[in-house]
Amino acid sequence: MSQIPRHYHITTFGCQMNKADSEQMAGVLEKMGFQWSEDPNQADLILYNTCTIRDNAEQKVYSYLGKQAKRKQKNPDLTLVLAGCVAQQEGERLLQRIPELDLVMGPQHVGRLEDLLEDVFSGNQVLATESRYITENITQPRRESTVSAWVNVIYGCNERCTYCVVPNVRGIEQSRTPLAIKQEIENLAAQGYKEITLLGQNIDAYGRDLPGSTENGRNLYNFTDLLYFLHDVPGIERFRFATSHPRYFTERLINSCAQLDKICKYFHIPFQSGNNEILKAMGRGYTIERYREIIEKIRTYMPDAAISADVIVGFPGESEQHFQDSLELVEEIGFDQLNSAAYSPRPGTPAAQWENQLSLETKSDRLQRINHLINAKAAQGSQLRVGKIEKILVEQINPKDPNQVMGRSDGNRLTFFNGNIDELKGKIVPVKIIYARPFSLTGILV
Ligand code: SAH
Ligand code: SF4
Ligand code: F3S
Repeated sequence: MSQIPRHYHITTFGCQMNKADSEQMAGVLEKMGFQWSEDPNQADLILYNTCTIRDNAEQKVYSYLGKQAKRKQKNPDLTLVLAGCVAQQEGERLLQRIPELDLVMGPQHVGRLEDLLEDVFSGNQVLATESRYITENITQPRRESTVSAWVNVIYGCNERCTYCVVPNVRGIEQSRTPLAIKQEIENLAAQGYKEITLLGQNIDAYGRDLPGSTENGRNLYNFTDLLYFLHDVPGIERFRFATSHPRYFTERLINSCAQLDKICKYFHIPFQSGNNEILKAMGRGYTIERYREIIEKIRTYMPDAAISADVIVGFPGESEQHFQDSLELVEEIGFDQLNSAAYSPRPGTPAAQWENQLSLETKSDRLQRINHLINAKAAQGSQLRVGKIEKILVEQINPKDPNQVMGRSDGNRLTFFNGNIDELKGKIVPVKIIYARPFSLTGILV
């Protein structure tokens, strides 16, 4: 066996699922005896956990990787790993394009990192992208925060939105068992964690793939049941979850979120477009009337709930009028946070083949216009919080001001206030809001 490198660095791109995967892989590396290096240029093993949701995300990966591939030409002991969604999408082609890579591994192989690296250290170039049943990983992840933790509940996605690479790169839905999820959360509580964010691409589809969980097409054990099952774990004070698909967001789920007091009144429900023709072309499986109905129900049960979403502008065939419908929805609902993106044609997706693509100018013009509105609406939403008392779970010191601590409100707004981190870390405290920015707040401890 060749000499085992000692320091590692991970760079993570993409969504929370990738961040959670990176924490898992960091845990495996530390168990193998590696130590974290803040500077990638000092590391003996570099891992890129990649995202391919849009073309610019994918291109970013190649530019990072190019630099380290050059370094490897001078330093052959450097180990280069490419993980995540670009790895899954490009597979073999990556090894040809960048022969310096030692390991290319898809997201379903995260739990196998140690085995795969052993193969690398015995002299092989390794490709791991075949689809795989994900088993429970018993290695402790190395988590970024000591207060708030991510917990996967469902991997993959069974939808077929016509623009999206996720089903191709993350595979079919695989729900973890309720017991495995609960055990992980109990362990986190024992370590002092206070807040859990449950993760899935399509979290409200949870459970339908579990054996014996459906009868005559009806889901016998679903996400709402899971919330009841997890809610009372002692020590955990808050739960969040993402991402919700409007197709599966039931009134029962809304009702239980209102009743269960540890569930934060914050919902991330992407709408993608405000127009039914576009929604249909996207293959989303709901109408905008249905979406409005969900938001109305949430606000009826939980008047103070914060709502966030994702939207795509410039989808193939989107007319100015279709786009106006998206603007109108933003104007009407006034999201607390809204991730906007210009449509990017992706390999292996139906919409990328269509002829009715819009020009880059139109897409970027619409993106600018919607961003302008998003900021204005978020600023209004923040302003409404001024004078109110928000419950803040304190996470860490404000990196820009050591006299301040920072944390999140129930509605997920980043909030800063003067205080001592040693006394406050991990506590939920009342803070009176005195100043608002579009996406963050400043207050004073009550
Ligand atoms: N499962 C979630 C979202 C996953 S991807 C859902 O269904 O809502 C995160 C976001 O990236 C999507 O909500 C969408 O807004 C955006 N996105 C996905 N594919 C895209 C593409 N080809 N071009 C632009 N944005 C895209
Ligand atoms: Fe992509 Fe649609 Fe699945 Fe979300 S639900 S991950 S947008 S295919
Ligand atoms: Fe990107 Fe993969 Fe997440 S493509 S958004 S990292 S599922």
